[in-house]
Amino acid sequence: MPPNHNQPPAEANSPKLDLAKRLKFLNLDDLDQRRLRECIAGFADCADACVESFYAHLESFDETAQFLSDPVLVARLKISQRAHFMSMLQAEWHGDYEDRRKQVGRTHAELGVEPTWFLGSYNLFVQQCVDQFVSQLSGGDDGRFDHLRSLMKAIFLDVGLTLDEYFLASTKDLRRALDMYNEANTELRQFAHFTSHDLKTPLGTVANLCEEVIDEFGDQIPPAARELIQSAQSTAYRMSATIDELLATTIEYEDGKRFSQVSLASPIQDAAARVDRELKEKQIELTLPDSFPSVMGNRVQLREVFYNLLTNAVKYIDKQPGQLKVTIATSDSHVTIAVQDNGPGIPQEEQPRIFAPFRRLAIHRDVSGSGLGLYFTNYVVEQHGGRLWLESQLGVGSTFFVSLKRAP
Ligand code: HEM
Repeated sequence: MPPNHNQPPAEANSPKLDLAKRLKFLNLDDLDQRRLRECIAGFADCADACVESFYAHLESFDETAQFLSDPVLVARLKISQRAHFMSMLQAEWHGDYEDRRKQVGRTHAELGVEPTWFLGSYNLFVQQCVDQFVSQLSGGDDGRFDHLRSLMKAIFLDVGLTLDEYFLASTKDLRRALDMYNEANTELRQFAHFTSHDLKTPLGTVANLCEEVIDEFGDQIPPAARELIQSAQSTAYRMSATIDELLATTIEYEDGKRFSQVSLASPIQDAAARVDRELKEKQIELTLPDSFPSVMGNRVQLREVFYNLLTNAVKYIDKQPGQLKVTIATSDSHVTIAVQDNGPGIPQEEQPRIFAPFRRLAIHRDVSGSGLGLYFTNYVVEQHGGRLWLESQLGVGSTFFVSLKRAP
């Protein structure tokens, strides 16, 4: 008996809200149910042949054959498939119908049968049986089209229910991945806080000790030594401030406040001011550009980029007079900053690995460094959607280029 939609159905057979909505939306009604049931006899005649050629097709593709290596399983599947399509024509749309379709989606998603293969083989099945059972239907062309229309609606209902479970499975995977990401992020944030605290405490002690030395022994310290101690003290303060700034930037970054319009004047001039002492010590002449365009970025991170490039150059310059030059070229979309030195240059064969972590160049083993400076510099530039590269000639010098997106 087709369900009577004018009367409330018995509780056990009532469609779940979800299924009821779907039926309404697809316009699947009692008439469709009647037409689908009229197809049962025709389908029963050809079902076995359909199922056989369906599996022959699946076995001819590596992607689908891998699921069908066990003959016992295939025999069971053939029975399930037949029953599945039979029940589609039976059109008993109640909770059980929905559950079985969803179960198919869940089973396939768990097994890794991708929707492409499910949909492709579904299409194959439908193509095969349509010809056969339409030819057995009475009622002239119009009547057959009506049956076909009902069949199409039932197929969309069936496929929709199954695909929903596929989506649900991938949403679950995504949610799991997101949870793991958030957890790792929280841990990283805590780690950054603790590490910054651990780094800042000894820096504070160093600064205080410098203060104490000057207070207690000020009179006995020669002026040049006093200057060095004061410089050590301000370096310790500056490092402490940098740690705070970098931590604040990381938090801003995580909170979604990534980049804003930054004039390059601030990061480049601040970085230059930081290397001023070393420049004087090594008598290196630094030339900065006259004007500074704006880019999209983070001021603190960009300052660290230019500080790393300048301090690196200063460290390695081995000529008198040392020369260090920053120039800027702009295009419509990008700004390219070149940091050029007249240092020893980097051998061609060493250049490809210069941005890898902990890679120290053979010729620079005697110069102190962690081997992380250029790695971090490159990382930050890439995070800005930019590019860092170098050109270098042995004995002549190196130029590091930073290309960044120009601010609109
Ligand atoms: C017309 C498309 C398809 C339909 C209607 C369909 C239907 C079904 C049904 C009804 C089940 C039993 C689900 C359960 O009770 O858990 C099932 C299971 C399964 N299907 Fe499909 N399937 C289709 C396509 C495919 C394809 C393309 C493959 C891969 C070659 C495949 C491989 C499997 C496997 C391996 C199982 C698990 C069998 C078991 O361990 O019990 N199916 N499928």
